[in-house]
Amino acid sequence: MKNEINIGLLGFGVVGSGVAKILENHQEDLRHKLGVPVEIKKVLVKDQHKKRDTALSSDIFTTDLNEILEDPSIDLIVEVIGGTCEAKEAIESSLRAGKGVVTANKDVMAEYGPGLLQLADDNKCDLFYEASVGGGIPLIRTLEDGLASDRISALTGIVNGTTNFILTKMKHDKMSYEDALAEATELGFAEADPSADVDGIDAARKMVILASLAFSTEVLLEDVFVRGLKEIRDGDLELAEQFGYTVKLAGSAKKNSDGIEVAVEPVLFPNSHPLASVNNEFNAVYVYGDAVGETMFYGPGAGSLPTATSVTGDIVAACRNLLMGVNGKRPHAPQYERKVKSDETKLARYFHRIRVRDEIGVLTKLTAIYSSQGASLATVIQHSDKTETDADLIFITHQISRKQHLNIVAELNQTPEVIGLLSHYRVEGE
Ligand code: HSE
Repeated sequence: MKNEINIGLLGFGVVGSGVAKILENHQEDLRHKLGVPVEIKKVLVKDQHKKRDTALSSDIFTTDLNEILEDPSIDLIVEVIGGTCEAKEAIESSLRAGKGVVTANKDVMAEYGPGLLQLADDNKCDLFYEASVGGGIPLIRTLEDGLASDRISALTGIVNGTTNFILTKMKHDKMSYEDALAEATELGFAEADPSADVDGIDAARKMVILASLAFSTEVLLEDVFVRGLKEIRDGDLELAEQFGYTVKLAGSAKKNSDGIEVAVEPVLFPNSHPLASVNNEFNAVYVYGDAVGETMFYGPGAGSLPTATSVTGDIVAACRNLLMGVNGKRPHAPQYERKVKSDETKLARYFHRIRVRDEIGVLTKLTAIYSSQGASLATVIQHSDKTETDADLIFITHQISRKQHLNIVAELNQTPEVIGLLSHYRVEGE
């Protein structure tokens, strides 16, 4: 029986320094819960001599991963380097060295998760990744354990803190996109390359992780339909507000007998929807299970200590397994074959904002396009003129297929009176 557990921490940035703080400040609680102390034995960094605000001794910082992997007293590796190549290699080397891994790395887990989990099993090690999705919200554990007996049919949520922070600041504080992004970066929410946040890629990776767990099937990044914040046009947030909606960059994953569909895109939520009032860097995910019904998980989706809380939760789980000698015994293979829905079977309501020439008969011509495509309209509104000659028409459809939506867009684009389809959004349920 071990009388202590030693950790090799890879990376000492926003999350790594948070992990060190929690392990230090909550040392007594952790010792009580585990029965043994947990300590950081070594920390891998790029610059050993950089001045750091930490209680850890400067002697334990190293630039040599092998020094950590070859240290037999180190039981567990915590990877918080971020990025893909170096982090993936470090995780693989750690598992091959027989050391369990806790990672916060959604990029690696979304792309290489199944292979790495297999490698962990092969080496009788744990590989835990709670912090890869939803910052401080225990979502992975909820899907793996809490809802293990249920069949999940859908997940909808806000899984990127940076974009939610930006949209909140733009809506409530009338901040510019650039200023809001700069503040999110300053606060440590944004990725090293924030285009991953604003283009929806970070959220898409998280949805791959959640959907593959929820539906027990392989989900690839290429299966995710992704649209980022660039799709939001000037005036859209205000327009949405006038109609009683809030724009959120949302992830959704659905499954039925036609297959799965996974998307990340700006979505209109009615203001009465709980996700409409999830603000700033907070994340929230709705999970619909056959047996449990509707559940919602809410909390800080980014930031040092919230994310570090999930990492240290995984450390506790891995330590418990180490103390019981039962690491790497969890089945990971998906239960179902990968089957992705076609555009004909992806159903949603759509909001179209169309700039037209303000002429007699235009409205009739456009509504005819919707009816010719078999699309029923729920709302038709002419918005106040931008100029004397142009107008914005807003159409909100009842449920139609993505194929119908694309056909309508193609026809609109060929209509001479249409200056342009300014923006379009999926509309979440009322
Ligand atoms: N950049 C990410 C976000 C960090 O804003 O959600 C947490 O994964």
